[in-house]
Amino acid sequence: MPSVQIRTTANLFRTAVTRSSFLQSGYNRSLSRYSQRQTLASPSLTFKPAVSQNRFTIFTRTMASSAAAKRLEGKTVLITGASSGIGRSTALEFARTNPNGNLRLIVTARRAESLEELAAEIHKETNNGVKVLPVKLDVSKADEIRGFVNSLPEEWRDIHVLVNNAGLVKGVAKAPEIDEEDMNIVFTTNVTGLINMTQAILPIFQKRPNGGQGDIINIGSIAGREPYPGGGIYCASKAAVRSFTDSLRKELIATRIRVIEIDPGQVETEFSVVRFYGDKSKADAVYAGCDPLTPEDIAEVIVFAATRKENVVVAESLLYPNHQASALIMHRRPT
Ligand SMILES: NC(=O)c1ccc[n+]([C@@H]2O[C@H](COP(=O)([O-])OP(=O)(O)OC[C@H]3O[C@@H](n4cnc5c(N)ncnc54)[C@H](OP(=O)(O)O)[C@@H]3O)[C@@H](O)[C@H]2O)c1
Repeated sequence: MPSVQIRTTANLFRTAVTRSSFLQSGYNRSLSRYSQRQTLASPSLTFKPAVSQNRFTIFTRTMASSAAAKRLEGKTVLITGASSGIGRSTALEFARTNPNGNLRLIVTARRAESLEELAAEIHKETNNGVKVLPVKLDVSKADEIRGFVNSLPEEWRDIHVLVNNAGLVKGVAKAPEIDEEDMNIVFTTNVTGLINMTQAILPIFQKRPNGGQGDIINIGSIAGREPYPGGGIYCASKAAVRSFTDSLRKELIATRIRVIEIDPGQVETEFSVVRFYGDKSKADAVYAGCDPLTPEDIAEVIVFAATRKENVVVAESLLYPNHQASALIMHRRPT
């Protein structure tokens, strides 16, 4: 049986964030990729495949995965924007982390059909071990959010983790050419949508003992830290997410409620297709010559943050692919 010895807490993180690739792909491919990554990541970590690599088998890992699974047992996780990209991968990653632990996932977005497909995929993959409730919800509509919790079946209302992921960008216009409708869509989705969702779910967390308990995980962006030309509205919206998140963490200081922000750099999803109003060739050009992050990369960190010991808050994190060093500094291979 292969064994992994973890010598530092930093390595614990690296091990946790690479775990799902074992489950998602073939054993041999994962093993070699995992070994490669771990060798690069830390010379102090030893990885010893002691049996034939063509058998899928159980890994002995001294920490991390079983504790992470245990911390999700019996929980209900609500993910907005789960019909594609990071939200969809996050639902899958939660399910794969605890496929048999009475985990419930509420997946929401505007595209109901995609949510139904996701639910069917998770039910099949976990043999119905994870329960999934797809709910059509437009976070830019305050009235839909207002009635959301009460519209859930009773047994789905005890939410423990809220992943505020729904978000988008429209266009690359610079002032004074920014379209008023685009401006409204971006702000009502990314900012007021996220705040309204938080306000709808927070009372559930606050009813728990010791001041309340639960996780709010907000998906920000490098754009919220570093504004760039042509991104004025999107950058402003993500800076607002960052400010709101920081205020909230301070407001909830006397509770057990964790407020977490995860800021991705470049991730290849439908994000750029939406930005360019459906023009796939313009979206593809964004990633030309780069190796962007995948939605699975972000999902692993979201689940990692949600499965730390209750006393640990991954308050913020900035995730780049290897070729990126700021919003606009990217290394591109000639194409
Ligand atoms: N991709 C990147 O490079 C990147 C970088 C930094 C941060 N982010 C952030 O990551 C988050 C996820 O984006 P992604 O990259 O995964 O893009 P994506 O593939 O386009 O996914 C966006 C998700 O948000 C949902 N959504 C959009 N408007 C909505 C609304 N009004 N109500 C409910 N759901 C809505 C979409 O579902 P429906 O269309 O079905 O409603 C979709 O499921 C966003 O907050 C984005 O700002 C992305």
